[in-house]
Amino acid sequence: MDFSVLTIFPDMFRQFWEYGIIGKAIEKGHISAETINIRNFAQGRHRVTDDRPYGGGCGMVMKPEPLAGAIREAKLRSPLSATILLTPQGKPFNQETARAFAEQDGFILVCGRYEGVDERVYLDFVDHEVSIGDYVLMGGELAAMIVVEAVTRLIPGVLGGEDSAEMDSFSGDLLEHAHYTRPPGFEEKAVPDVLLSGNHGEIEKWRFETSVVRTFLKRPDLLADRELTRREVELLKQWCIRIEKIIRSQSGRGADPPSGSQ
Ligand code: ADE
Repeated sequence: MDFSVLTIFPDMFRQFWEYGIIGKAIEKGHISAETINIRNFAQGRHRVTDDRPYGGGCGMVMKPEPLAGAIREAKLRSPLSATILLTPQGKPFNQETARAFAEQDGFILVCGRYEGVDERVYLDFVDHEVSIGDYVLMGGELAAMIVVEAVTRLIPGVLGGEDSAEMDSFSGDLLEHAHYTRPPGFEEKAVPDVLLSGNHGEIEKWRFETSVVRTFLKRPDLLADRELTRREVELLKQWCIRIEKIIRSQSGRGADPPSGSQ
């Protein structure tokens, strides 16, 4: 997988390419990474990359010629790469997109700055527009790093255990189960006994349960958006029964009776 990042701030990526799993993925040849300075394709003594918007208004717009030059250069080096413009107007990036991207040959990630890029660049050179969320950053650089990280860790061989990405939150449309490590007791809170039991069947059951329940509590939208498995439905029903029992036990203690009960 080839990543080319086009930016006016290439130094932001120097450490990013060197450290941690990204650094190792480059070392092992799982990905290649380059940063192209858009300014190198700007004209004139000052190599200006932005200009005032036609029609007036505040802010500046990224000029088309330096961007087009940088994209052409990146395409020459990686002809099979798709060009992505990072912008808050793009398609929201999520795990599904990351999985689809991980199957591709490579990406040219164009980091916009200022108010945006000249529309003609978008129309003629960009294959996808991607947003990392409904908020506005000062540029696409951090967004590009997020895309690179999310995609790289899904490339086979990049993560240590081959199945670590498969167990991720979102990978099965559920959040990941709770995690504990040593020490077994921390500030009067103990690790759940089942995790110390060595009983793999029970541990798997517990993990599945924490995964479903925490998805229900933290991100119910993830459950509402898809068909539940029979096992998930059973588990949620059991939780319903437990919750109802607790509520019933409260009636007569000053709490309102459960709605629908007499
Ligand atoms: N550039 C500025 N804001 C952005 C966002 N939310 N996503 C991607 N690129 C951006």
